[in-house]
Amino acid sequence: MPLDLTAPQFASIADLEREALACTRCALAGGRTQVVFGAGDTGADLMFVGEGPGEQEDLQGIPFVGRAGNLLTKLIEGIGLSRDDVYIANVVKCRPPGNRDPLPAEIDSCRPWLAAQLQFISPRVVVTLGNFATKLLLDTKEGITRLRGKEFPFAEGVVLIPTLHPSAVLRSGGTTLAQSRADFVVVKRALVRARDAGTAARDGT
Ligand code: URA
Repeated sequence: MPLDLTAPQFASIADLEREALACTRCALAGGRTQVVFGAGDTGADLMFVGEGPGEQEDLQGIPFVGRAGNLLTKLIEGIGLSRDDVYIANVVKCRPPGNRDPLPAEIDSCRPWLAAQLQFISPRVVVTLGNFATKLLLDTKEGITRLRGKEFPFAEGVVLIPTLHPSAVLRSGGTTLAQSRADFVVVKRALVRARDAGTAARDGT
């Protein structure tokens, strides 16, 4: 089932975050230190969606601050941006115990939060990090290795680009790091194109 991207039920993203921080929709609530809602520029053109918080994220309340986060930060900086220029969120907002994969029921419980984040932030380019985010947002069973580095239409005027999850890149190294860097070049180009299209639409050219 695709994400429901119809009108959000919250007045603002601050309201949305306040509600999400108190979420008890699934059993992950019982084991978390805190909800990891998302971080970055809520007006960003570029939004990343990962899988779920790990140990450091659960402790600090910020997505991608552990080893995988360091790699993500480097990849973002590699295309001339900083973490402050983008928005980063996850499919599930609470840490699965022992960093296990999120369960389908947990993903399902959490999906309205992500859908509402996407609506408020309204990015021009969405980058899914790994299989879980890619399968959820593209509503596909196709694996990340076949989809990575390609552009897919997501919503009106929004392009989605899947790439490898930074944790998988840390585990495999070598070729996968080169693949990630190549995917980020695709992201950069899509962002430039989307901004040019936005400018042309605004100027009526
Ligand atoms: N992995 C994720 O998918 N998200 C995080 O926030 C951290 C690691």
